[in-house]
Amino acid sequence: MLQEHVALKPFNTFGVAARTRWYAEVTSTTELSTLLADPRVAGLPVLVLGSGSNLLLTRDYDGLVVRYIDDHVRVIAPGRDSHLLEVGAGMNWHRFVDWSLAHGYVGLENLALIPGTIGAAPIQNIGAYGVEVERFINAVEVFDRERRCTTIFKHDFCEFAYRFSRFKRSDERNRYIVINLRFRLPRGAELHLDYPGIREELAAMQIASPTARDVFDAVVRIRRRKLPDPSVIGNAGSFFKNPIVPTAVANALLSTHAAAPNFDAGEGRRKLSAGWLIEQCGLKGYRDGAAGISAQHALVLVNHGNATGADLWRVAQHVQTCVRSRFAITLEPEPVVI
Ligand code: EPU
Repeated sequence: MLQEHVALKPFNTFGVAARTRWYAEVTSTTELSTLLADPRVAGLPVLVLGSGSNLLLTRDYDGLVVRYIDDHVRVIAPGRDSHLLEVGAGMNWHRFVDWSLAHGYVGLENLALIPGTIGAAPIQNIGAYGVEVERFINAVEVFDRERRCTTIFKHDFCEFAYRFSRFKRSDERNRYIVINLRFRLPRGAELHLDYPGIREELAAMQIASPTARDVFDAVVRIRRRKLPDPSVIGNAGSFFKNPIVPTAVANALLSTHAAAPNFDAGEGRRKLSAGWLIEQCGLKGYRDGAAGISAQHALVLVNHGNATGADLWRVAQHVQTCVRSRFAITLEPEPVVI
């Protein structure tokens, strides 16, 4: 089960050539528990990998990389208007969205084509086209490394927010390993068509009364056009979060840049567009050796060939410096950076 000195290039969508000291794949909590008690790895840092689509490795990993391979789907409580489903952490996200629509569930269609696994979805509360996954999460079953047992966290315990959850909190980070997700999925629900571009895409597809499957297809078309495909050019999707700033800061920006995209973020705050800020700095398509910024979307860092994690991190820091000096706004990375 436990392997030493394993190459992580196949396990991160940036395609960075880093290695891990220890590597293991497990298929059950019993195997996981046995693995974590193994004296060769006990006490070492642990990195749980889904498909490595939200990870930048700037160096080799001197710890244990674990992949939890379980992709079961089980209806645990059928209801009248919605069903409660349990899904294994190792299931591919997009495959599950597709499965859910094929089985008559509605809700996840706006989240089509997001790379990654079910287990990774709650960590950063994945979201796209006006929907965040937390809306459909009923509970998260985890393995608690401190107490060495499994436990189920109800939705409210998880502290979900924009690209954030309790699992990202610095005092809890790496304590829990997601085993299963419980979704409450409606059997029919209103569609979310308000995010800019969705209605236009449906119109281009000549669809006047869309179904959830049509929205899924529209999102897939938009993403394929706008975002670079990680199987063609290494990337981890959005590299920075959209900054959430006090309204006064947004207003100051708008007084000089009236066209800056900005959205209500509640509590007297506005969400700005990191992609726009980066593009304004002239960095769309920027390149430093094999590392760079996508020419398709300014929020996406790309590996043009054999960039190292350190090369990519240097580009990320350059972006942060440019945006900070031009707009006095600090961009925070979205992926896990090792
Ligand atoms: N924009 C630019 N230049 C660019 C890209 C974007 O000016 O190169 C501006 C445009 O004004 C555009 C606006 O930014 O209208 C918003 O762009 P987009 O719809 O692509 O969304 P985003 O805010 O850049 C977020 C998520 C994406 C998600 C899309 C769609 C974050 C960090 N990113 O990007 O998520 O797919 O919305 O909902 O919140 C990811 O997390 O990896 C990811 C791809």
